[in-house]
Amino acid sequence: MTATVTSTSAQPALAGITFPDGFVWGAATASYQIEGAAREDGRGESIWDTFSREPGRVYRGHTGDVACDHYHRYVDDVALMADLGLASYRFSIAWPRIQPDGTGPVNVKGLDFYDRLTDELLGKGIDPVVTLYHWDLPQTLEDLGGWANRLTAEAFGEYAQIVYGRLGDRVGTWTTLNEPWCSAYLGYSSGRHAPGKQDPAATFAAVHHLLLGHGLAARALRSAGARSVSITLNPSAVFPVDPDNAADREAVRIIDGLSNRVFFDPLLKGQYPADMLAHMSRFTDLSYIQDGDLATINAPIDVLGVNFYMPSYVSAKPGSPAAPDQPGSEGIAFRAPNGPVTDMNWPIEPSGLTRLLKRIHDDYPGTPMLITENGAAYPEGPGADGEVHDTRRIEYLDGHLRACHDALAAGVDLRGYFVWSLMDNFEWAEGYAKRFGIVHVDYATQERRLKDSAKWYREVIRRNGIAE
Ligand code: NOJ
Repeated sequence: MTATVTSTSAQPALAGITFPDGFVWGAATASYQIEGAAREDGRGESIWDTFSREPGRVYRGHTGDVACDHYHRYVDDVALMADLGLASYRFSIAWPRIQPDGTGPVNVKGLDFYDRLTDELLGKGIDPVVTLYHWDLPQTLEDLGGWANRLTAEAFGEYAQIVYGRLGDRVGTWTTLNEPWCSAYLGYSSGRHAPGKQDPAATFAAVHHLLLGHGLAARALRSAGARSVSITLNPSAVFPVDPDNAADREAVRIIDGLSNRVFFDPLLKGQYPADMLAHMSRFTDLSYIQDGDLATINAPIDVLGVNFYMPSYVSAKPGSPAAPDQPGSEGIAFRAPNGPVTDMNWPIEPSGLTRLLKRIHDDYPGTPMLITENGAAYPEGPGADGEVHDTRRIEYLDGHLRACHDALAAGVDLRGYFVWSLMDNFEWAEGYAKRFGIVHVDYATQERRLKDSAKWYREVIRRNGIAE
């Protein structure tokens, strides 16, 4: 007798889901991560040019000098986006291409590039979503103190006006900053990112000046007639290891304050949380907060960009040192991942995204949101059949789209989703070692190849949902 083999799959079949009409499907990139052409057409130096050349800062000394050579290949790259059916493309402008020294003369050739890119996108029916700052600060501004200096915020407002002046007739959605938490805490506290400083006082001054820069840019964009003004944050989905333990919940309060409320409250309520003012006062006299700043920061936004990759879990651990990127977090421990992780060693937990979106919806009512980044690093490249079978990325994206759908069902006003990233690119301190793209890039030949996830995403876009 032959035994009958039945499926032993532990996974129940998943039902299909459909997104609301008009839900925006996109992909995202950032200037320094893909453009290359670092010394072309009058581009100035950025803090990432400097930082990546310093020994030991970036994996194997990788730099963004060439990256994906998108500066020269943007026509083909836009054709690829059209092939995927993207409705929208989120990219960033390199400030040092526009103003090589951060203030003063405008480099017209820099503006010309983004003008060409914008027209190419529109010609293919793809809506451009512009981020004005995705971390490539002109080095000249850093030499004056960078985001720790108020000057940078003021310069950013002027730069926003310049870019809008050239692209505003064709670009509808404007995002001021990408993940100011990273700029402030990784740039000035842990030093893991450019400019590589380790100075808590500068960190909190940077938080404030980033927020102020956002407010000044938002004002400039609005008064020039921008249709939609936004900022992209990377809020932390932080939970207590033991929800019944008061000390663990207190640990959450601090990390949530440093990562979330210190940005959300000024932006959406026009005030810093009282507990965070006390926390920051341990490191600085807060004298950089001037009258009127909070009103500027509190300028209305049309949509909030949310980048999400993973949740984190914290507990009270008396005696443990502060995390390098969380000034004043001594006595708090971050739990190591104890389940599946991506190639970044980031835990995979889509329900964290649903919980985060609901929390923002509850605590800051009336805030429409866009997922401006979500994705996963996995190393798969072309196999013997020439295809890239990145099944784990498809599973990750599938899970997170379902999490978005759950949030929508719970009443969250979520307007769209941008996968990070369109293509493999320069992953900051990890260099080219970590691949987030749904399109594979062979850095030796610059050949692009759709991964299975790109084909899967094309189908999601076509159906406006997931089949099953
Ligand atoms: C967030 C950043 O905005 C992006 O530049 C980065 O590559 C991804 N996270 C992945 O780390």
